[in-house]
Amino acid sequence: MAGNWKMFKTPAETKDFFAKFLPLVEKSGHADIAICPPFIDVPAAVEAAQGSRVGVGAQNCYWQNKEGAFTGEVTPAMLKAAGCTYVIIGHSERRQYFGETDETVLKRTKAALEARLIPIVCVGEMLAERESGRTNEVLSTQFNGGIAALSAEEFAKIVVAYEPVWAIGTGKVATPEIAEDAHKVLRGLAEAAFGKAAADAVRILYGGSVKPDNVTGLMAQPDIDGALVGGAALKAEDFAGVVNF
Ligand code: 13P
Repeated sequence: MAGNWKMFKTPAETKDFFAKFLPLVEKSGHADIAICPPFIDVPAAVEAAQGSRVGVGAQNCYWQNKEGAFTGEVTPAMLKAAGCTYVIIGHSERRQYFGETDETVLKRTKAALEARLIPIVCVGEMLAERESGRTNEVLSTQFNGGIAALSAEEFAKIVVAYEPVWAIGTGKVATPEIAEDAHKVLRGLAEAAFGKAAADAVRILYGGSVKPDNVTGLMAQPDIDGALVGGAALKAEDFAGVVNF
């Protein structure tokens, strides 16, 4: 269960969140829990999460670990040194607004793995693509371009997130059936690239308007292994409600 804070919260607000959130998930041993705040909040989150079951992640990273003259970028190795466990890669907002491509997703994922971070690699179709019946084709292009070229050892260490762009921040959650169909397609793509055992083992999260009151139906689907949560991860009670579905 991963929370993506996007561009929300200061370090002080991060501290407040953890003070409220940690007691609510103290006994939530059924799930791995991650909070992915903005870079600037990572140290506050790591400090607050110390000794708890909650891991901290970043929302993006550069595609190499070697330091260099790349203004504004952060290496995966720096994130690891700062205490991160996870990093979100290829979120649709990065694809839409910041020029992320399947090729850069693959490069960033490899660099993150080199630094021993767990990449949460996002894929998902836009509304127009779904409406024109191209969902499976888009998922296939994104998976084959951004993920399939990993080695089997690398693939075993990543988490995949299916986030239909039309369901993000819109309140329009995909029905459990629609989400399950896409997850099944992704698991099939994983099987074609890496074999059945690897496809069965990979965790595929659903993201897009997940809330405490719709998470149970999603989690009941056989191919939905967890959630990547935006808006509802900003409030401790709401995200705890999702984690403890
Ligand atoms: P919302 O939960 O706000 O729809 O955001 C989903 C998301 O993009 C998580 O990465």
